[in-house]
Amino acid sequence: MNALPKFRLFAATATLGLLAACGGEAPADDTATAGAEEPAVIDERQANFEGIGDAFKLIRSELETGNPDVVAIENAATDMNERSQKIAGFFPEGTSVDDGFDTEALATIWEDKTGFESAAQDLTDASAEMITIAASGDTAAVGEQVKAVGGTCKGCHDKFRLDDD
Ligand code: HEC
Repeated sequence: MNALPKFRLFAATATLGLLAACGGEAPADDTATAGAEEPAVIDERQANFEGIGDAFKLIRSELETGNPDVVAIENAATDMNERSQKIAGFFPEGTSVDDGFDTEALATIWEDKTGFESAAQDLTDASAEMITIAASGDTAAVGEQVKAVGGTCKGCHDKFRLDDD
């Protein structure tokens, strides 16, 4: 009577192996330590945010020179705008800080997906506006728009990011 359960166990294991292969994941090792491997998407989204942070810094430091290079600002705003449109796609289920990974992504991102996506859209809109303003060469207006862009970072971080520093 033991033969049947053993066979079932074997079949289940084989099926799991097959699913992993179909998922295009790295070959599972025999010890199968679940959840230990950090999804690459976490590094990708953090690098994308680093790029957003660098673009924002560049705009602010240009303004501080007193004679800002509006072309550099326009380019940085364009980069920020493109990166903002990628944010939502970098957050598959199971990649929050609660899943044990080295990330500041709070579970609230998945609990309020609409809110998160709309916070990303706010940055897309604010950076688009920045492109238009920089192209007009009105540096005073650029200074005002920097506050609006910064408000969208804070608006999202306050709710969806573990640490806001
Ligand atoms: C739609 C939400 C959202 C918006 C808008 C947003 N961020 Fe973030 N940001 C996050 C989340 C979530 C993380 C944590 C990502 C992680 O650790 O996986 C993060 C992380 C970061 C990081 C750290 C990246 C790293 O190396 O780990 C920087 C820097 C950053 N954001 C800068 C900014 C700046 C500057 C803005 C505005 C110009 C901005 N962010 C707008 C959600 C957002």
